[in-house]
Amino acid sequence: MSENRVVDEMEHLEKLGDYLVVRGNKALNGEITVRGAKNFVSKCMVAALLGKTPSVLKNVPDIRDVQVVSDLLRLHGCKVDYAPKEGIIHIDATNISHGEVADVSTLAGSSRIPILFCGPLLHRLGEAFIPSLGGCDIGGRPIDFHFDALRKFGAVIAKEKNGIHITAPTGLKGTKIRLPYPSVGATEQVLLTAVCASGKTELSNAAVEPEILNEIDVLQKMGALITIDTDRVIHIEGVSDMKGFAHTALTDRIEVASWASAALSTYGDIFISGAKQSHMTTFLNVFRKVGGEFDIRDEGIRFYYPGGKLRSIPLETDVHPGFMTDWQQPFAVALTQVHGLSIVHETVYEQRFDFTKALCRMGASIQLYKECLGSRTCRFEERNFRHSAVIAGPTKLHGANILVPDLRGGFSHIVAAVTAVGESKVYGISLINRGYESFTEKLLALGADIG
Ligand code: EPZ
Repeated sequence: MSENRVVDEMEHLEKLGDYLVVRGNKALNGEITVRGAKNFVSKCMVAALLGKTPSVLKNVPDIRDVQVVSDLLRLHGCKVDYAPKEGIIHIDATNISHGEVADVSTLAGSSRIPILFCGPLLHRLGEAFIPSLGGCDIGGRPIDFHFDALRKFGAVIAKEKNGIHITAPTGLKGTKIRLPYPSVGATEQVLLTAVCASGKTELSNAAVEPEILNEIDVLQKMGALITIDTDRVIHIEGVSDMKGFAHTALTDRIEVASWASAALSTYGDIFISGAKQSHMTTFLNVFRKVGGEFDIRDEGIRFYYPGGKLRSIPLETDVHPGFMTDWQQPFAVALTQVHGLSIVHETVYEQRFDFTKALCRMGASIQLYKECLGSRTCRFEERNFRHSAVIAGPTKLHGANILVPDLRGGFSHIVAAVTAVGESKVYGISLINRGYESFTEKLLALGADIG
């Protein structure tokens, strides 16, 4: 976004009151709780569409994505009952029906979840309408893998004015699919379609993120037959009927890493109740390598600055079990506080460094490069995208007026504002509510000076 448009947008958000004033240079100390993973809960809610009996999901965070998917499910005839305080959602998809095309489009808004409705709606209703997709602006975010996979199952996809109309005139049949890249969404698309397709499906080069393995647990509870093989291969035997499930969502490891990054950037000490070691191994290694420390307990993980010089590192994002791309943005703020040159090579999204512009305005020293600066070349090598960053530190950040560019970039802006000396105004914070439950309350609980 050009500087002029940023200023216009900030003026607009000022009128709407969509901003947060942060008086920084405060160590964040205290305890917070992180509940279920946004990127699991939303998909699990879609899986409930396959069940002919009611489902119940626990540990559901009160975030906007949950509201959006709840409304989309209601639009398709599901009964959805969410108790935010308890974090329990009941979904009854016994009598689902077609949603009004225009309503689906309006409700979906900036969410990318509707693309995952394809398989379940084809199975239950014989057709699906999927509106044009939104989502964070962090790269092209194509959906070609999804469509190629659906076609292999026998789906027919017709582009219409406001989206896509999908049918399966001869039914959905199991097939062999090799993903060009281990895409999270495309793996979920295949799983949600294959579970009830006739015959066997073999999916290779699948994503195996903990959220996906958790979704496989849910589908198994619903009656699916799924085997996880070695080397990213998943076998699915189609079944004719699925029932509802009862499940507890795994903790949001992106939110945990975001708050851990805030603890390090501000030289603070945060205990995150609900954090789980097993989903965070790679993050914990990196956190320790730069000089942060953590204590792992049954109830959660304490992340803290133990004193001494923080050390620079080379870092490369990757699919699981690599360092998550969603951890990269908040963690980059912590890297502005370490001594020396850190290199960050983003290999999942081609344009995930836009947020660094604001950090530079706040005093950070970050240079972007088109070259792959990591230990290996990635898909973006020849494509002219500035997907590597060199961060020189430590730099004293100072307060500024900044605009939230996307969900994780937005959280990184909050972390930068809390770290910076002086006052910042962070515009567009409503976007952060999409994926961070009660983040202003949590900031206050940790001693941030906000208003
Ligand atoms: C999911 O997005 C998450 N979103 C993202 O989190 C996360 O960053 C990403 O997985 C990777 O972990 C949700 O779960 C809702 P992908 P998804 O398909 O599934 C390319 C957040 O902030 N690709 O794994 O959309 C794509 O362009 C969000 O919570 C194709 O080329 O990601 C990207 O380069 C942001 N064609 C790469 O694959 C396709 O058809 C990985 O994308 C699909 C993907």
